[in-house]
Amino acid sequence: MTTRTLQHVIPSMPTSDGAGVKLRRSIGAQRGLYLDPFLMLDEFGTDNPGDYIAGFPAHPHRGFETVTYMLDGRMQHRDHLGNVGDLGPGGVQWMTAGRGVIHSEMPLQESGRMRGFQLWINLPAREKMKPAWYRDIPASEIPAHGLPGGGTVKVIAGTTQVGDATVSGPINPPTATLSTDPLYLDLVLPAGAHFEQAIGSMHTAFIYAYEGQVVIGDGAAAKALPTQAAGVLTPGDTVRVTAGPNGARAVLIAGLPIREPIVQYGPFVMNTREEIEQAIRDYNDGTLAKVA
Ligand code: FE2
Repeated sequence: MTTRTLQHVIPSMPTSDGAGVKLRRSIGAQRGLYLDPFLMLDEFGTDNPGDYIAGFPAHPHRGFETVTYMLDGRMQHRDHLGNVGDLGPGGVQWMTAGRGVIHSEMPLQESGRMRGFQLWINLPAREKMKPAWYRDIPASEIPAHGLPGGGTVKVIAGTTQVGDATVSGPINPPTATLSTDPLYLDLVLPAGAHFEQAIGSMHTAFIYAYEGQVVIGDGAAAKALPTQAAGVLTPGDTVRVTAGPNGARAVLIAGLPIREPIVQYGPFVMNTREEIEQAIRDYNDGTLAKVA
């Protein structure tokens, strides 16, 4: 068994997207630098309505998946198919844009805290044009399991083992068979608490501590990960995370790399320039999101 440690850190940069929503982008902040299969990780978190109230008015996506995880606050998704989904605290929206989605993501509140993540996961060439699909997963459907040393693990995608308990998230075979085989855990750890997770040796994996600090690895290989930065893990098949002196909250995310060329133009992520030009033509003539 090989223990994963911290390989390198992708710091998060303040930026804004949509109609002026302030957020911090780590993966994807530098154009062309992805963490296959992950294209982007945005953390949004503010008590100031001016930072989020304009939301994300209607915009398209093609060629990948978006995973929105709300920690605090409420957002509403509306799409071209007439779907309306309310996302509340602790809820997740898993959306496969595939061939095309045109949607808006707007706040359902005028005051208070809005906090969460949006992760973009790439799709392999053979799946980029599949029909759009999405699922709203309320907090009540996301299992939370106590850890022996204190703290909690929530399982959004994949499976974790806590003692004798096997805990599987709502995005998990056989209900969802995704070629990137994603793992998405949210950890709440009191000071000094440990968490261990098996991760497939072929998976790309990273940890993002959104509160406090974590130490990744054990013994001489242990390294501290700064708050609000993506810590990319070395190859291996297990990882050990230890919370710093003030405790920590962190997401642990892993997936199988796709190893294909990536050409991105804003919300379109394809394999070639021609496919991007086609996506722009399809968007302009109104056929982006139509089932062929
Ligand atoms: Fe979107």
